[in-house]
Amino acid sequence: MSPRHLVDLADLSPAEIRAIIARATELKQRRAQGDKPQIFQHKVLAMIFEKSSTRTRVSFEAAMIEGGGGAIFLSPKDSQLGRGEPVEDTARVLSEMVDGIMVRTFAHETVQRLAACATVPVINGLTDRSHPCQLLADLQTFFERRGDIAGRKVAWVGDGNNMCNTYIEAASLLDFSLTVATPTGFEPEGLRAVAGHADIRLVNDPSAAVVDADLIVTDVWVSMGQEDEVTARRAAFAPYQVTPELMARARPDALFMHCLPAHRGEEVAAAVIDAPNSVVWEEAGNRLHAQKALLEFLFDRSR
Ligand code: CP
Ligand code: NVA
Repeated sequence: MSPRHLVDLADLSPAEIRAIIARATELKQRRAQGDKPQIFQHKVLAMIFEKSSTRTRVSFEAAMIEGGGGAIFLSPKDSQLGRGEPVEDTARVLSEMVDGIMVRTFAHETVQRLAACATVPVINGLTDRSHPCQLLADLQTFFERRGDIAGRKVAWVGDGNNMCNTYIEAASLLDFSLTVATPTGFEPEGLRAVAGHADIRLVNDPSAAVVDADLIVTDVWVSMGQEDEVTARRAAFAPYQVTPELMARARPDALFMHCLPAHRGEEVAAAVIDAPNSVVWEEAGNRLHAQKALLEFLFDRSR
């Protein structure tokens, strides 16, 4: 059987995404009662990190350990990847030894190349283009708080980056309305893929984007790998901070999400991220449950 991968969110059907979210919520509730099903017994996940991580590393590693399996952390510094071993060969070798490969890297193509040669599931743990694992946790958080997201209104404010691209993919898959507010020159590349197929709009004015929104989402102005653009980016994004005034234009019960790490006083005001309708800690915590449900789904379909 050829393995199932999660390179792009669209590798999952809308029904599969909803099933993974439901299972994540079930696993979360069972864990709260002290029940940690041993769903990963004798399973090992290799985790390749070419960029920093707190949530992604800890959620995958904790998920594997709690399920009775284990995870191995690999960085280019300490593995042969950093000395030029091709990703294709790495995929073949790891497939002989582990049950799944999670990778966080720069070029999206690196994950595609790994998936093309691996005989075990490959999971995108963030690339310059997308972050599907985070979207599973964000969607889980919304579903738990407000029910199905279909037909609801989401506003993305800030950089048209990897997270924004994945929100675009999610809007197209799960039928929610998405308005993206970015400065000119920072539009998401993911918009081209869904042009004309979904209720997705691009604007420059954040105050127009958030009107009646059920959810406002933002992310850092300077993503990993863009450190040399910090001055220009801070200037371009200054009018795009999510402030209490901006939140006040959304629905009164609008939620605020941020994949974290956050910079208070840059992309979000402290008064927003630390307010009661900010669900960022829950969103981060749901990474653990969403990761478990995803791993179980991929392992079960790749035997
Ligand atoms: N949100 C997220 O992916 O966080 P880390 O970079 O800490 O993994
Ligand atoms: N857009 C951010 C997300 C971090 C989780 C980055 O790529 O650095």
